[in-house]
Amino acid sequence: MFPDRVVSGMRPTGLMHLGHYHGALKNWIRLQSELPCLFFVADWHALTTHYDDPAIIEKSTWDMVIDWLAAGIDPSQATIFIQSRVPEHAELHLLLSMATPLGWLERAPTYKDQIENLATRDLATYGFLGYPLLQAADVLIYRATQVPVGEDQVPHIEMMREIARRFNHLYGKEPGFEQKALAAVKKLGSKRARLYAELRTAYRQEGDDAALEQAQALLEEAGSLSNIDRERLFGYLEGSHKLILVEPQAKLTEASRLPGLDGRKMSKSYGNAVSLREEPASVTKKIRTMPTDPARVHRSDPGDPLKCPVWQLHEVYSDRNTQDWVMKGCASAGIGCLECKQPVVDAVLAEQEPMHERAQQYLDDPTLVRAIVADGCEKARRLAQETMRDVREAMGLSYW
Ligand code: TRP
Ligand code: SF4
Repeated sequence: MFPDRVVSGMRPTGLMHLGHYHGALKNWIRLQSELPCLFFVADWHALTTHYDDPAIIEKSTWDMVIDWLAAGIDPSQATIFIQSRVPEHAELHLLLSMATPLGWLERAPTYKDQIENLATRDLATYGFLGYPLLQAADVLIYRATQVPVGEDQVPHIEMMREIARRFNHLYGKEPGFEQKALAAVKKLGSKRARLYAELRTAYRQEGDDAALEQAQALLEEAGSLSNIDRERLFGYLEGSHKLILVEPQAKLTEASRLPGLDGRKMSKSYGNAVSLREEPASVTKKIRTMPTDPARVHRSDPGDPLKCPVWQLHEVYSDRNTQDWVMKGCASAGIGCLECKQPVVDAVLAEQEPMHERAQQYLDDPTLVRAIVADGCEKARRLAQETMRDVREAMGLSYW
């Protein structure tokens, strides 16, 4: 089988904020020390919705890379690159488009939603319809096994899996595959071989997904198999083909949701965001002017933290003691709202301080960032080219 690998991307459509940090980046930072990771700026994806605003994409791309580095993505551990600098993504997108049913794209829940939500933009474009397919190419080209994403992206990962499965089915024919697979079954040992055959039948004849998973687990554990045989047997479960592309899994971001300053989801378009490297004075002012429980008109009016967006920030930033202090002090009008906000101000500034520090060297010397990205693009490209060799060959395109 192919080794574990993590791939994820973000669209450069504006400044990153602390919601992105808590919702996604922290997860990336944790993963980078556990598994090989590739993180990229999805600039083509940004163009699918912002095709009429190219200036924002270039600026946001460089700001985004600096934000990642500032937050703690470490280029000596993770590979950082820009999607459009690895043109193989586009080639795979094109090739996958040949065999992708239109209905899969038209039915993607993000498709209709976004067309309605972003009514100010004309998204009835070919590029926007293909958004999830380009995303599939981004991941499949690295044979990634895991994709850290938010809940909203899960249908896209499901679609990637279907696309990979369909590709393997259509193009994974190998001369003599059946015999090679049967020989590999024997190498499992008689007990495992029997179980494998039963599970395969249960899946292929009755569509029993649990049987498929059980058989896959059996193969993962079978130490007696060579990698190539294991790959064949994975393919044999689903038909008579070998695996060229890998079906990735969604790795849901552990829920650490940071709401915006008004209690709604943090979003630049709601005007309730704190950007990742916002100046301390501005952060302080924003938090000090945040709305609170409307029942606290006067300092002497008691309040209820559960009706206050400041409390939601305490839930992310404060320890138990401070939270108790807020609960009691608010309900008894023992503390004022500005007093209550101060620990949040302190915690946010403390979180951002090392980010400002790390960012400074990159702001002072932009060539550092360029060098990191150039290096990442080169590494990513090498991996992408390996997969593309197999893909072209499978699709009858290796004439040279
Ligand atoms: N669609 C993703 C988002 O909006 C961004 C993205 C593009 C992506 N390509 C990807 C995420 C590949 C994961 C993997 O968040
Ligand atoms: Fe909100 Fe704190 Fe004021 Fe209570 S004391 S209303 S929790 S800011």
